[in-house]
Amino acid sequence: MARKNNLVGIDVGTTQVRVIVGEPRPDGTISIIGLGLSPTEGMRKGAIIDLELTVEAIAAAAAEAERMCGFKIDSAYVGLQGLNTELVNNRSVVAVQSDDREIGAEDLERVIQAARVIALPLDREIVKVIPREFIVDGYDGIRDPVGMLGVRLEIDALIVTSPITSLRNLMRCVNRAGINVEGMVLLSLAGSEVALSSDEKELGVFFVDIGGGTTELAFFQQGKLNRLSAVPIGGAHITNDLALGLRTSFTAAENIKIEYGSAFATLASDETDIGISSVGSREQRQVSAKEVSRYMEPRVRELLQIIREEMNRMGWPELPPAGVVFSGGVSQMKGLLELASLVYESDRVRCAEHDFVGIQNPIYTNAAGLLYYVNRQQLLFYRQERSEGTFRKKTGLWQRIKDWFFEIVE
Ligand SMILES: Nc1ncnc2c1ncn2[C@@H]1O[C@H](COP(=O)(O)OP(=O)(O)OP(=O)(O)O)[C@@H](O)[C@H]1O
Ligand SMILES: [Mg+2]
Repeated sequence: MARKNNLVGIDVGTTQVRVIVGEPRPDGTISIIGLGLSPTEGMRKGAIIDLELTVEAIAAAAAEAERMCGFKIDSAYVGLQGLNTELVNNRSVVAVQSDDREIGAEDLERVIQAARVIALPLDREIVKVIPREFIVDGYDGIRDPVGMLGVRLEIDALIVTSPITSLRNLMRCVNRAGINVEGMVLLSLAGSEVALSSDEKELGVFFVDIGGGTTELAFFQQGKLNRLSAVPIGGAHITNDLALGLRTSFTAAENIKIEYGSAFATLASDETDIGISSVGSREQRQVSAKEVSRYMEPRVRELLQIIREEMNRMGWPELPPAGVVFSGGVSQMKGLLELASLVYESDRVRCAEHDFVGIQNPIYTNAAGLLYYVNRQQLLFYRQERSEGTFRKKTGLWQRIKDWFFEIVE
């Protein structure tokens, strides 16, 4: 049977679905006790195009994770892709209610609820309210106002909105795989939790997740998520170019890309020791890693340039002080950092590392981050409740916070 405090995270990506089960430890870290991965063809460019295939992939990944952890997964937190997701800034204000003017969790809840009141097109839904800062009687920059004294509590919040249909389809797929959705968390926000240091988030950093079908850019500064963007390009486009160049199948090109490919052709070996079979021919030919990389490099360059233009559009014609941190499957590509340094004329580029999570592959960064993100939010709110002497863990505030944190209208 599932232990009550275990957390489950699901990342439904364009190329694969990941399910991670974790057990929070008292020191705030999480032991990963279950892990499942299943390839999927139910998504394209970050959107579900085939419900059945997506449900099957979620169920298969969950079954693998269940075999490892030894219990049935009945609920999970689900990651939300950044493509088509929008961030809107909003501010709201409430009067502190208690007679002694001490700000309580209820005031916090009211001010966040008030921030949800924004004009939205009919086809969009609020997924989440992310507090950026609180302002108490005009003093700004406050991260946690509970317990402070004040008359007027203001919030500066980011409101995350997403198209209703894509959200509902994602929830429906998870539900049909027999799993309840406890909440939804932006994948970039989740991934940044384990991939970025607090110094980087403070100084200003781009977290760039290059997946199979999409690339998500999240900009953090002063410790907070500031901007979010996504482009519908990823590793699959590099594989496509390679398949065309080598005149081979997509599957063969995908394997060659992962095993021998480099983003930087100059760094690749010119020994002709890779056997490939061409489409329409039974004969095998031998190519070198350099030739493979020559087909890949222009596409990767183009992708890096598109990312750069997007950063520019987000207000950063120069790289921010802490530079760029890459994650997602493509961040494992050989030569990527070298090429990125060259294209961005900067050495402030690195790949996400999160050794302490126990799994190092960056395809798991977002799913592992989901668990850390949710765990930290829970700890924060439980601590606030305890400090108020009203510990209502099961029925009280956390449930309501979850409702407005992750609310989705059915
Ligand atoms: N060693 C490697 N070298 C190059 N590319 C790689 C490597 N390992 C994985 N990839 C690529 O990473 C991509 C998959 O990454 P990831 O699992 O992060 O994507 P996803 O989450 O399924 O998709 P998305 O985030 O776009 O929805 C594939 O295109 C794969 O070819
Ligand atoms: Mg992904």
